[in-house]
Amino acid sequence: MNTFYLENKAVIFDLDGVLLDSAEYHYLAWKKIASELNIHFNRKINHLLRGVSRKESLLIMTHGKIELDEKQITEITTRKNALYLDFVRKAGEKLLFDGINDFLAELRKTPLKLAVSSGSRNAPELIDISGLKKDFFHAVVSGQDFTRSKPDPESFLMAAGKVGINAENCLVIEDAPAGIEAARRARMGTFGVGNAELGSCDIKAESLSLKNVSFIFEYFKNHEV
Ligand code: BG6
Ligand code: MG
Repeated sequence: MNTFYLENKAVIFDLDGVLLDSAEYHYLAWKKIASELNIHFNRKINHLLRGVSRKESLLIMTHGKIELDEKQITEITTRKNALYLDFVRKAGEKLLFDGINDFLAELRKTPLKLAVSSGSRNAPELIDISGLKKDFFHAVVSGQDFTRSKPDPESFLMAAGKVGINAENCLVIEDAPAGIEAARRARMGTFGVGNAELGSCDIKAESLSLKNVSFIFEYFKNHEV
């Protein structure tokens, strides 16, 4: 296969909900918090929290419902994170979505640069406990490395910088509306994953599997900057 058109191109992966089946545990943890705070919460509201930091998530879900001071915000987000970590530590290697290793191995046969860019400060621990092979990636950026949460493009621009590829030559794979918006603001291509509403994306698929590696090749083949 001639892959010259994949040179100087990069694919940037979100972690929660794209490579790892961990997004559901954020939902379950926030659902418990919402019931303790006695506020309405459902999957539709949760979808807006995907990719967004824990503090901003809390502010979104309580907006117009209850007022919280900084001390309460810290206490509640710390508790949410403890609930979340409890779930994911129990799940361990089950976190890795089926087919991810094959998908990444196929991309690794090409000149493409691969990076993870997650808004989560837990990303390094999640990678360890899920057994996701770090060797697949040329760079990993987590919420510990930057300050501005998605939809700000900072996390993706940082990943592009780490792999040395111009933003216009990067394709972001995301399950979050905030992540797709961050990719657009960074002038990167968008590959939306999952069933929930993400607006228009260059590529869309329910999940990542060997059969949709070709979507990525097609995208770059037709993508002249
Ligand atoms: C993202 C998740 O990956 O990480 C969000 O999709 C989560 O749901 C976010 O809130 C930030 O994580 P945290 O807890 O480190 O601020
Ligand atoms: Mg995500």
